[in-house]
Amino acid sequence: TWTPARGSEIIADHIALEGPALPILHAMQEAFGYVPQDAVPMIAEALNLSRAEVHGTVTFYHDFRHEPAGKHVVKVCVAEACQAAGANETSAKVAKALNVGFGETRPDGQVTLEPIYCLGLCACSPSAMVDGRLIGRLDDDAIEEIAAEVRQ
Ligand code: FES
Repeated sequence: TWTPARGSEIIADHIALEGPALPILHAMQEAFGYVPQDAVPMIAEALNLSRAEVHGTVTFYHDFRHEPAGKHVVKVCVAEACQAAGANETSAKVAKALNVGFGETRPDGQVTLEPIYCLGLCACSPSAMVDGRLIGRLDDDAIEEIAAEVRQ
């Protein structure tokens, strides 16, 4: 769990690196599962940046989360090859099956749904990732399996 002391430690561990902002943000996300809002001013101060600059970096990279993720994390690829294979329709189906919007965590905390930009599985598009596991050829059956998994 986030504490300012833990945040300071992470900053101190990475501040000597060249271009420390991204390594610090990644380390924060690794430690806490997201980049806590309170970490932004601390990072800004340590790196002599404005809060807006740090906030901009956090929002620019889709990898960073602003709040703790749900128990399961489902990412659906919405990049070009998957788009061509119907990712728009597929992602709408996934959102409906999981009952959560993109970029959101379901209120019961069971699942977070996020878009992702190419999983390297273009040959089996449309594709997704569930708790770090890659899934290609995302058809109705696969979506149903994901929904079942997320219920657990
Ligand atoms: Fe979706 Fe590459 S575009 S896996």
